[in-house]
Amino acid sequence: MTKKGAPKKAASAVKSNQAKLPELPELARLGVNIDHLATLRQLRGTPYPDLVQAVRVVEDAGGDQITVHLREDRRHIQDDDVRAIRKKIRVPLNLEMAATPEMTRFAVQVKPDWICIVPEKRNEVTTEGGLDLKKGASRVAAVIRAAKKAKIRVSLFVEPSEQAMLQSAALEADAVELHTGRYCLAAQGSLGKKSKALERAEFMRIERAARLGRSLGLHVHAGHGFDLENVRPVAAIVDPATGRPLIAEFNIGHFLVCRAALVGMEQAVREMVAAIRAP
Ligand code: PXP
Repeated sequence: MTKKGAPKKAASAVKSNQAKLPELPELARLGVNIDHLATLRQLRGTPYPDLVQAVRVVEDAGGDQITVHLREDRRHIQDDDVRAIRKKIRVPLNLEMAATPEMTRFAVQVKPDWICIVPEKRNEVTTEGGLDLKKGASRVAAVIRAAKKAKIRVSLFVEPSEQAMLQSAALEADAVELHTGRYCLAAQGSLGKKSKALERAEFMRIERAARLGRSLGLHVHAGHGFDLENVRPVAAIVDPATGRPLIAEFNIGHFLVCRAALVGMEQAVREMVAAIRAP
């Protein structure tokens, strides 16, 4: 798409979708990504931590959804984890996966409430960027078709760009999840001297993409890199028509697992001190 043609295309796409704007929740939902609890378990091959128990803790604490990423290399979450969680979970389950036939077969069998299609590179530490919906369109479209048949809703993990919003709407995804990684790194001051300026620019990109995504009839979610501070400005973006949060769902993992280790350490130490002193 040429830069010149883009606004025109966006405007006409918005017009044709105006009747079917998805309802916004009164309060944003938190999807808790528990991948890194599985990372800790896989490091040692231990039977703990128990992921189903973790799901219960998240539910009891007010988490609205559980998110797990079944990677092709199975570095953290395993197939049996997803099956066990599916059996016991009380909140919606969101399965992040690559757009492959193997993952699609698995998802259709296990039936999560949502699939979030993500790009996957074997050696990356974490999901590095949004989906390439130009090169990957037919693979993504195949997953969306299979998911719709199985009554599973689909979100696409994409860059917060106009092009990605238009492509996601054209593919008839239910939602986009905006990749907020660059904004979050900038807000944490991790992108060098330009961090402050980049934080502002990336925030604007997220806000613009969220508004366009919604106007195209997409649910708008966000995730990657959030902590207790950088999430606030993004969660404060509202839809002017309803006054409700424009970004309906936040999927957050690494920070929560790190924070849980800190705030949970006191109890863990007390329990172990008691165990060795009163065996
Ligand atoms: N959303 C998606 C699609 C992801 O791939 C990830 C990382 O696994 C997250 C959210 C959570 O990111 P973080 O662990 O940085 O909170």
